[in-house]
Amino acid sequence: MSEPERRGLLAPSILTADFTRLGDEIALAESGGADWIHVDVMDGHFVPNLSMGPMIVEACRRVTDLPLDVHFMIEEPERYLEAFALAGASRVTVHVETCPHLHQTIQTIKGLGLRAGVVLNPSTPIRSLTEIVAEVDLILVMTVNPGYGGQAFIESSITKIREAQELRDAKSDSGAFIEVDGGINRSTIIKAFEAGADVFVAGNSVFGHSEGAKVGVEILRRQLDKVEK
Ligand code: DX5
Ligand code: ZN
Repeated sequence: MSEPERRGLLAPSILTADFTRLGDEIALAESGGADWIHVDVMDGHFVPNLSMGPMIVEACRRVTDLPLDVHFMIEEPERYLEAFALAGASRVTVHVETCPHLHQTIQTIKGLGLRAGVVLNPSTPIRSLTEIVAEVDLILVMTVNPGYGGQAFIESSITKIREAQELRDAKSDSGAFIEVDGGINRSTIIKAFEAGADVFVAGNSVFGHSEGAKVGVEILRRQLDKVEK
């Protein structure tokens, strides 16, 4: 599958979707112009919350051709990579805090034919990626503490987004996306874009929008269009 242009991609997070009508919710987000669908996997250990497993990815795969961007918030992520690959994930992003053998984990993800990403908690510095940045397809900067939708964007993340972009650009062989996740709305998306983010995860501002996910995506897209020009 060819990759779209790098900047300004929208990845609605189904964590906030109405699961009694997940297929319709994804179709609405797609009709509004979503680029990827973001799937949050939580284990009740690395983060306090429990969410979804490969069955949900498999269900998403049946209703959309969009890339499925799977965000692992689980301990021992290696145990579950194959199941998510078989279920139809397009990319898997693992927390550096969960991976003592990060290089090996990234190679395993790629070996399964998936795009590989790394993600940092708000308290984990960008410099922890120095030795791995050339190997990854995506750097995800958490802009809230992982575990729940609907939290407020942590303002100090702006500096980290800039640092991530600088690290990526310093490695000429790295074409990694910079993705942000948490508290993205019509104002924080502009700040994150200007700091250098390429991909924007949004749960509450898409699936929690009072006029539905299509309108939620369209509003974020319009904000990006304004600053991209
Ligand atoms: C939080 C998840 C996010 C979450 C974002 O741990 O990683 O993807 O769904 O939700 P909002 O956009 O509501 O902050
Ligand atoms: Zn996420």
